[in-house]
Amino acid sequence: MSKPKVVVTRRWPEAAEARMKELFDVSLNATDTPMSAAELTRALKSADAVCPTVSDTFNAEVLDHDGLSAKILGNFGVGFNHVDLEAAKKRGLVVTNTPEVLTDCTADLAMTLMLMVARRAGEGERHVRTNAWTGWRPTHMMGAKVTGKTLGLIGFGRIARAMAHKAHFGFGMRILFNDPFPPSAEVVNALGATACATPEEVIASADFVSLHCPGGAATRHLMNAERLASMKPGAFLVNTARGDVVDQDALVAALKSGRLGGAGLDVYDGEPAVPESLKTLENVVLLPHLGSASLETRVAMGMRVIDNLEAYFAGRPPRDRVA
Ligand code: DGY
Repeated sequence: MSKPKVVVTRRWPEAAEARMKELFDVSLNATDTPMSAAELTRALKSADAVCPTVSDTFNAEVLDHDGLSAKILGNFGVGFNHVDLEAAKKRGLVVTNTPEVLTDCTADLAMTLMLMVARRAGEGERHVRTNAWTGWRPTHMMGAKVTGKTLGLIGFGRIARAMAHKAHFGFGMRILFNDPFPPSAEVVNALGATACATPEEVIASADFVSLHCPGGAATRHLMNAERLASMKPGAFLVNTARGDVVDQDALVAALKSGRLGGAGLDVYDGEPAVPESLKTLENVVLLPHLGSASLETRVAMGMRVIDNLEAYFAGRPPRDRVA
C-alpha cells in the first residue's frame, strides 16, 4: 500500500523529520523558507496531509478552494489561531494540535521573562557587554523582588497552571487567576491558587500579570489601555500567549509613563515585526517566540503531530483533534 503524501511547511528537528520519512511519502522544507499562500494551497491540492506551524497563516484565502486532496492539517504547535477552523471544516479538513508536550517549557520561559524583567537581567547583560559596568555599588541596577509576590494569571490552562506550580512552590508566590473555564476546585486548591471573577480583579492585585489565554478575535487587545492603567503601579506584564492579546501601542505608552515596572514579551502583534518603540525601552525583555524552543520539546511536538497523522491514516480518531 502506498504511503500517505505529507507536506511539512518548515524544518523540524532531525529526529522528527527522520520519523516522518519512515512513515510517510513526505516533502520536507530543506531551506526552511516560509511558504506563500499560493504554495500552501498547492500543498493542500497535492498531498493527503499538510503540517503547518504557528507562523503559517491558513485563512480562507488559502483553504477555501475546490479540489483539495488534503484531509488533515497536523499543526506543529498548541495554538491554532492561525488556522481558520470554519474554512477548514467547510473543506472537510480535520485539524490537530500539539498540547501537553510544550507545557513545562513554555511555563519555564514565562518564569524566565518574569525573573529577567523584575531583576533587570536583559538590561544588566547589555551593561556588561557594552563595557558600561564600573563595579558593584549598593544602588546599582536595583530591581524588584520576585519571591513572595503576587502572580496574576489571565487564563488558567495547562501552561498557566505549570507556571503557578513553579511560582507558588518554588518562589512562594501567591497565585490569582481568571479563566472562563476554570479547572476543578481540587486542582485550584492543590496549586494554592485563588479564582477571580474577572480579569480586572486579577490585574488590580497582581505584582506580575502573566497572559495565558488563546489569541484571536475574542481576546484581541484584552490588555488595553484601561486594563494596563489599572495594574498596580510598578507591576510587570509577561506575555507568552499571543501578541494580539496586548494593545502594543498602549503598552509602550504605559511603559514610557513609568506606570508599569516593565514587560517581558515572547510574542508580538504582527511578529516577527517588533515595534522600534519597544526595542528602545530598557525596561522590557524581548524574546523571539521561544516558549517551546527546547530540543526535547520540539522533538516531542513533531512526534505528537506524527501520532495524530498515524491515527488518522489508520482510521482511528487523532487524540488532539481541534476541528
Ligand atoms: C504554540 O505551540 O502555540 C507556541 O506558540 C509555539 O510553540
